[in-house]
Amino acid sequence: MPKSPTDTVQNALASPAAVIEARNLVKRFQGMTAVAEMSLRLGPSEMVGLIGPNGAGKTTLFNLIAGSLKPTSGEIWIAGRDVSQDSPEKRIATGVGRTFQIPRPFLEMSVLENVLAGAQSQHGERLFANFLRPGFVRRQEKAAVDKARTLLEFVTLSHLENQPAKVLSGGQRKLLELARILMADPRAILLDEPAAGVNPALLETIMERVITLNAQGKSILLIEHNMDMVARLCSRVVAMALGRPLAEGTPEEVARNPAVIEAYLGGAA
Ligand SMILES: Nc1ncnc2c1ncn2[C@@H]1O[C@H](COP(=O)(O)OP(=O)(O)O)[C@@H](O)[C@H]1O
Ligand SMILES: [Mg+2]
Repeated sequence: MPKSPTDTVQNALASPAAVIEARNLVKRFQGMTAVAEMSLRLGPSEMVGLIGPNGAGKTTLFNLIAGSLKPTSGEIWIAGRDVSQDSPEKRIATGVGRTFQIPRPFLEMSVLENVLAGAQSQHGERLFANFLRPGFVRRQEKAAVDKARTLLEFVTLSHLENQPAKVLSGGQRKLLELARILMADPRAILLDEPAAGVNPALLETIMERVITLNAQGKSILLIEHNMDMVARLCSRVVAMALGRPLAEGTPEEVARNPAVIEAYLGGAA
């Protein structure tokens, strides 16, 4: 029997389209398999923690989702579209922003210029190339500069906008990256260890900003070893080890899962 429009609406509500969906992803480097068979779903406005010992394949999974690596097999879907063959720039335009485990600002460029570098032109092309030419900020549309300044205020770095990025601490660099990716209005944000090496005061700022972004409707996938942070931010956690999903559940469930404990002990050995 054909579905009534009401059924269709109810199905859509029961299972809204995933913002990010990784399907059976595999990534091999020469002989070694970094991601063995990984599937993961991030729903609208969801904040999911991704944990696992060093070498589990978490950053590689981010690289596959963001497009800086092509999968050996499997698919990435963003907002209901198969983006597996799309460039990183196109995926940013589709709505995915990612930060790096070790932030990579342009050290000699100003804090404001670094944020502007995250902007996309009308055609979805990054302003990147232009940005390396002198007078970049002056030539930017006022709207882009205003937006960059608003984002710098959001990440508490306004007072440093004219300083070169090299003066920033590790934690400030993480906040700068957050502002940079927000320039492209992502609907999903991938955060790779935002708390690592960050002092407690700045960590609190980072956590508050991530909570605010999630409350504004952004979907967030958070790689983090700090389980207090994961427990505070995420209602659902996925643990991975050896490139595969190992456990999934609430932070408490996953933290006391014997397979997860075993994987961490094995990883530390
Ligand atoms: N570009 C690469 N070339 C070869 N091996 C890699 C590359 N990137 C990651 N790996 C390997 O893949 C495995 C998973 O790494 P990674 O995704 O960084 O793990 P995690 O972020 O969970 O610590 C590791 O054994 C790592 O050495
Ligand atoms: Mg990593």
